[in-house]
Amino acid sequence: MLKIISNRLTEEQYNIEEEALNASLFTTGNGYIGVRGSFEEYGSLRIQGAYIRGVIDEIIEVMEPFPDNEYMKKYYIDEDKLKEFEYQDSVINNLDFLLLRISIDGETFYPWEGKLLSWERYIESETAKLVRNVRWENSRGDITDFAFERFSSFADDHIYCIRVRITPINHCKKVEVISGIDKRVKTGGQKITSVLNESADKNVTYVHTLMGKKYGFETGITTVSNIFPAEAEWTGVSKDGLIYNTASFDAEKGREYTVEKCVYIVSSREGETAEPHVAGRRYEEYFGEHISEYRKIFEMADIDIKGDEKADVGVRFANYHSIISASHTDSIHSVAAKGLTGERYNDFVWWDCEVYQLPIFIYTAPEIAKKILMYRYRLLEQSRKNAKAAGLKGAKYAFCSSVEGDERVWMYARHPFMQVHINADIAWGIIHYYTVSGDIDFLRDYGMEMLTELCEFWKSRVELHNGRYEIRCVTGTDEHHPYVDNDAYTNYLVQFVLTKTTEYAKMFGMDNDYSEIANKLYQPIEDNGMIPQFDGYFDLSRNLEEAGGSNAVNFQMKSSGLYHKSQVIKQPDVMLIYSYLNMAPDGANYALNWDYYEKMCESSSSLSFAPHSICSADNGRMLSAYHYLIDTAYIDVYDIHKCGWQGVHSGCLVGAWYAVFRGIAGIVCREKYIEINPHMMPWWDKVTFSFYYKGSKYKVEMDNNSYLLETDSERDTVVIFKGEKCYINKENELVKKVR
Ligand code: BGC
Repeated sequence: MLKIISNRLTEEQYNIEEEALNASLFTTGNGYIGVRGSFEEYGSLRIQGAYIRGVIDEIIEVMEPFPDNEYMKKYYIDEDKLKEFEYQDSVINNLDFLLLRISIDGETFYPWEGKLLSWERYIESETAKLVRNVRWENSRGDITDFAFERFSSFADDHIYCIRVRITPINHCKKVEVISGIDKRVKTGGQKITSVLNESADKNVTYVHTLMGKKYGFETGITTVSNIFPAEAEWTGVSKDGLIYNTASFDAEKGREYTVEKCVYIVSSREGETAEPHVAGRRYEEYFGEHISEYRKIFEMADIDIKGDEKADVGVRFANYHSIISASHTDSIHSVAAKGLTGERYNDFVWWDCEVYQLPIFIYTAPEIAKKILMYRYRLLEQSRKNAKAAGLKGAKYAFCSSVEGDERVWMYARHPFMQVHINADIAWGIIHYYTVSGDIDFLRDYGMEMLTELCEFWKSRVELHNGRYEIRCVTGTDEHHPYVDNDAYTNYLVQFVLTKTTEYAKMFGMDNDYSEIANKLYQPIEDNGMIPQFDGYFDLSRNLEEAGGSNAVNFQMKSSGLYHKSQVIKQPDVMLIYSYLNMAPDGANYALNWDYYEKMCESSSSLSFAPHSICSADNGRMLSAYHYLIDTAYIDVYDIHKCGWQGVHSGCLVGAWYAVFRGIAGIVCREKYIEINPHMMPWWDKVTFSFYYKGSKYKVEMDNNSYLLETDSERDTVVIFKGEKCYINKENELVKKVR
């Protein structure tokens, strides 16, 4: 497991068993591409992976689940469709352009050959660079230091740079370098890519590839390799599925040699032609350009926690993963559930995107947030078709969104087809973005069209029963309870969306009015202040009924749970209303609901931890808020769900930022004011971070005694601090006692 060493999550020795997991954790990327932390000298199945956002095609997917209990048979899996199921859209793995093999006196460096005298590997979060320092002894006793570094450029989406500094410690042996592209990669264990054209000439290799037949995207990868000091002659070779350049030199003891490899990757997904691109600049130049762009995003999103190294390092690492998950240059694709760190979940865009992944960008990089929403706008036309095909009005977004916006959810799984809350989640994302940024141009030019179509969808989806509108036969956010009526999260959010859209329509002089439905839409609540997750929820058993055994751990955490008979839930639904939607429904009792639903939640979706941290903080239970925060930030470092090797849980990791911002610092940005109800961790010394609100920057510094909020805004901002109204502006900061 990675350990904190000098403020970094570090792999301090090579551990073959953790290679696949650490490949996810050590992904480098820039939102355009994600490159798993596989080794330059060996990229094998499960470990290697390089994914371009939205470069998706069709594969044969071998499905894991099988209907092995009553719940699975009745609600989860459609057996007929399971038998039909074969093809699925999936992100397609790129050729392995990391390929870089170094031999000392004829022996190639591999971590499992010879002797590793020292080893460390870590991500430098503040520069988005992966570092590996190795001291290696070959079988003849020649000791060599290798200092590997690599990064994906934030200055140019298409540039990926690798550098290895080689220092012979006790020898003057021949060093041979092979640098190029390994063409033998697979996606989901299958060979999907085919080479259209290739060349290897001196120090340049180039491969033009077809990435599948359904969408037929193409990529072009060029690698340019150099050795400094330049004593070597390069030759191009194409052999055994590899295409590379090779060079050798006689090393001098103690002298440092540098191999630099610049990779240029383009794809037809962004309309580029796959021409070779030979750029002849030095690693340091690319790195300099990269960090000046990357730092702008990193520093704005950074949270500094003094007095708790574990939380400080964990949140920073999580933020790194959030930053590299989103494209900062275009809206061709959006943020996927595993970012670009693995094949699992196929690079689909889920509801995680607008509810969980968007907030960090809304508050720290609004231009990225806008790009995320523009992906949905691009797919509006297809979503209109989806609604029509379902016999409904307006626009119906796919629960799993791929290239074209048609539904790509696994056809055999019944319940996600019913997670229509996606059509409220996207609306929520638009409203949240507008509320915080004040970007009225976006709302007018794109947001309103989406909101209106989404409200038209809901208008045609609600049903009138005994004078009230209801939303029947849905799956809420808790996938363990499909086919329910009046799911709390869905009903509360839909009412909010209908109300807000009506309000915005008035502002723009439009006559869409959804207030009649909003006012009469049933908002589930019991007399005792409890919100039932859906009709009849409290009548179910409070234990998890079990039957038989199951291996389907990824689908059901508890084996063979008969969830339909039980109140045990997979992930929060009601508690999202309080934590992520920032609503406190009239007459509902927050503490009572939290106490109850916390115990019913088995957290078999990692999307549970951040909302739970916020609910704990809101209710003053700081130790529990802390544990949930650590689970959020360390979900994959500790491999809590035992599937981190398939890619990191991006929707969970991104919650680390939000849990500090919304939970501990207690900030909720409303349309006309900022509300603050802080809950400092008793043992933390200080928390510092920044955020944007209505185009101005705000900085928070919080310790156990005081809360400082300053801004560069000329205008007055209304702040409601623990119920007390204050004003702040450039000259007038807010300093308050926390307790
Ligand atoms: C969760 C969903 C989520 C999906 C992708 C599932 O396990 O239950 O809520 O959208 O994973 O992260």
